[in-house]
Amino acid sequence: MWGIKIDRESELPLWRQIYQAVSERILSGEIKSNEVLPSTRELAGILAVSRNTVCQAYDMLITEGYLISRQGAPTHVAAGLSLEKTPGLSLRTDNKAAKTFDADFRTGKPDLRLFPRFLWQQLNNKALEELQLDQFGYTGPQGYPRLLGEIAAWLYRSRGLKVDPVNIFITAGATHALHLATGLLCGNKGGIYIEDPCHTGMLETFLQKGCQVIPVPVDEQGIQTEHLEKKNNACAIYVTPSHQFPMGGILPATRRAKLMRFAKDNDLFVIEDDYDSEFRYSGEPIAPLYNMDPQRVIYVGTFSKILFPALRIGYVILPGQFHKSWKSLRTHADVQNPPFQQAALAEFMAARKLDRHVRKMRRVYSERRKLMLSELENAWGDSFRVMGDEAGLHLAIEFPGLRFDDTFRKRCLENSINITPVENHCIQKGRHLNKLLLGYGHLSHEEIKKGVGKLKKVIQDY
Ligand SMILES: Cc1ncc(COP(=O)(O)O)c(C=O)c1O
Repeated sequence: MWGIKIDRESELPLWRQIYQAVSERILSGEIKSNEVLPSTRELAGILAVSRNTVCQAYDMLITEGYLISRQGAPTHVAAGLSLEKTPGLSLRTDNKAAKTFDADFRTGKPDLRLFPRFLWQQLNNKALEELQLDQFGYTGPQGYPRLLGEIAAWLYRSRGLKVDPVNIFITAGATHALHLATGLLCGNKGGIYIEDPCHTGMLETFLQKGCQVIPVPVDEQGIQTEHLEKKNNACAIYVTPSHQFPMGGILPATRRAKLMRFAKDNDLFVIEDDYDSEFRYSGEPIAPLYNMDPQRVIYVGTFSKILFPALRIGYVILPGQFHKSWKSLRTHADVQNPPFQQAALAEFMAARKLDRHVRKMRRVYSERRKLMLSELENAWGDSFRVMGDEAGLHLAIEFPGLRFDDTFRKRCLENSINITPVENHCIQKGRHLNKLLLGYGHLSHEEIKKGVGKLKKVIQDY
């Protein structure tokens, strides 16, 4: 069927192979808009796999918006997805931490208490002992070769992404990657499209690089591509399509196709920040935009959420045309990442400890998310609404009729509650005043219960 071949020897799960084959054929136009798909039973029979395997692949395709499934109608392909690929190579503190709060709902904070610190210490010692002496010298700006290989293998195992390690460049986290990518693409002065609301730290990075920021509104599903308008000096689009920060949406396939088409028509590059895509609690991680056009997308990954922020290791996957200038930028800025943590991380990944840690943390965060939701329901019944996908380390919630302004934030701080309204992340103000962000990843069950109780009191009296 559609020439799909299943490789039973592959490390890639069968459902992902089917998902990838179908999504690629939809994007290339081989499977047409509105085409009705075979039933899961039928396809399972043809491919000689279990029906569950096909159901899992279809569920992912529906979640990402490739397929439409409505009760009483057959599952069919969404309209407007086919995308011509670019020909070419397919190679591929602040000091807030010091302050403690009775209720600390800050976003983006992993639970560092559950990090396997002892093992990490052992791996660091081992790296220091075993690294060849030449690794103590200048070894070049790309990164420790073994780590590049481990990242490529991890991306394949966890996301089905096929990347040649020669296209991977280690950075000191996503912020550093964005700083360098902006220098590379925008020559320190071009325009950059950015989601609004967005991560204020990333916004600041672009502003400090002298970029002109072009805000594009975001709704529950992510960047509203219908608002992308041509600007003459623009050089790039920065997006978080797997889990929009802060609203939490997964960018649907139709918008992904529109975004990539807009980028292509206007000769723009896309910077895809995949900061916490590993933590998705229903279904599998979302396929990156990078899959759609590896020559136009600079993919940014980080270990800050899956391991710990102070590690300062992230990476980019770069189209070949940028390798030389990236190396030059990096060499003449901070030269390279230190080899020791890179070697320890490579060992951690090779021993599949990262897989295990991510699996464990996914379970922990998923339970915390559920608890946070049930506590919110106990406190407010159905008078609030959760935005976005079941993913990440925070919730974005809307309270229709309420306004969370500076006075509210101040009131919270007076009551030892650290919480951020979505409005604080907005470039254009006034559109998301009734929404709050509640980080839960770093909170124990007790802390969640206590925190929601305190918040309820402040909101009641507000
Ligand atoms: C949208 C987004 N990107 C990236 C990061 C991670 O940045 P870094 O790797 O520099 O720690 C964060 C951290 O909160 C984030 O929210």
